[in-house]
Amino acid sequence: MNRQKRLKQVFFYAALTIFCHVNLVDNLYSQHPADVSLKEAFKHDFLIGTALSTRQIDGRNKAETQLIKANFDAVTPENLMKAHALQPRWGQFNFEQADEFVAFAASNQMKVNGHTLIWHSQLPGFMQHMENADSVRQYFVGHIRTVASRYDGKVDSWDVVNEALNEDGTLRNSIFLRALGEDYIVEAFRLAQEAAPNTKLYYNDYNIEQPSKRAGAIALIKKIQAAGVRIDGVGIQGHWHVGRVPMEYIEQSIQEFAALGLEVMFTELDLSVLPNPLRGNSAELSQTEQYNKRLNPYTDGLPDSVAEAQAEDYGKLFGLFLKYREDVSRVTFWGVYDGGSWLNNWPVRGRTNYPLVFDRELKPKPAFHRIIAAKYDQE
Ligand code: G3I
Repeated sequence: MNRQKRLKQVFFYAALTIFCHVNLVDNLYSQHPADVSLKEAFKHDFLIGTALSTRQIDGRNKAETQLIKANFDAVTPENLMKAHALQPRWGQFNFEQADEFVAFAASNQMKVNGHTLIWHSQLPGFMQHMENADSVRQYFVGHIRTVASRYDGKVDSWDVVNEALNEDGTLRNSIFLRALGEDYIVEAFRLAQEAAPNTKLYYNDYNIEQPSKRAGAIALIKKIQAAGVRIDGVGIQGHWHVGRVPMEYIEQSIQEFAALGLEVMFTELDLSVLPNPLRGNSAELSQTEQYNKRLNPYTDGLPDSVAEAQAEDYGKLFGLFLKYREDVSRVTFWGVYDGGSWLNNWPVRGRTNYPLVFDRELKPKPAFHRIIAAKYDQE
């Protein structure tokens, strides 16, 4: 080979190397377009859900509707499929809003998680003081059968039983435990399985990543499985606090629940930034606290340092969810944007909280960007 030919060859390979490198870098960026949405980013990993109210499905707020459709491929009704909404009077059901919700999801190719069949809270008025065991049983059987069968094939899943455990892992002293005994949870799943053979059936609770409560949940799940009754998944709600997200417990929980053969979901994710005057991080609605100014420090906006700390926590969480993408089937935020979060009114009414990843103007927060980065940085 003469000198000129060899020089040409060197130039050719050098150019090829530069071309490939530039292209590779370009490709990495093109996978991470500036306007990628949550559901697009995680479409090969898990569903991205949100909780919606009736107001949010009527389409009147165009910007909000657009944001919901772009970012979420799963929806949970925040309140409208709870027992008091579906059966306001004994034996009289009102399915109007729930039907609209299911239709909204269907027309936008979103999965629906029904929430919830059996929960001690938000019961219909007629159940509040019912102590007669036969009447409680009649309600229990009737509600599950009627609701689960009506939506079989229309919703993808149900939180069959919600929040049945105490923090120490024992069963909560609810109207159902008192009247029906400790097998009521197995019975709820058995009834749901019969009424809704085509619907996934889940147990859902807060703080079940914590060791004692987690042990209670595992015992409960094993009991359902040992009875030959179907349970498909477990929902870890995920109402946590910035700076105190229990990452290790969350990782252990994913491993332990998945080892039971269950789908693992994060079903009500939000990260509060406000002081919690109650002990522990929970969603115990019966506990509340009087308003005082010290408990509401960010009425003029969220300081950058706090937004950054929140972004950090959300980023780490999604890194963990991605690590377990084989086990985690859905991550649902409990609301769409900060202004609509239940955490503005619990455990203290009338505060200004910032727990979600879209702000009060529906703009993505640093937390949103860190979540997207968690996806593309690990590829
Ligand atoms: O709709 C009425 C309205 O007519 C009335 O004027 C107003 C006055 O307080 O109340 C409105 O109802 C409120 C309802 O949310 C709708 O906004 C209830 O008071 C309020 O208690 C209810 O709170 C809901 C709470 O569950 C109790 O059902 C929250 O929005 C909802 O985010 C929360 O969700 C729960 C999950 O279901 C289970 N896990 C914990 C999670 C957070 O608490």
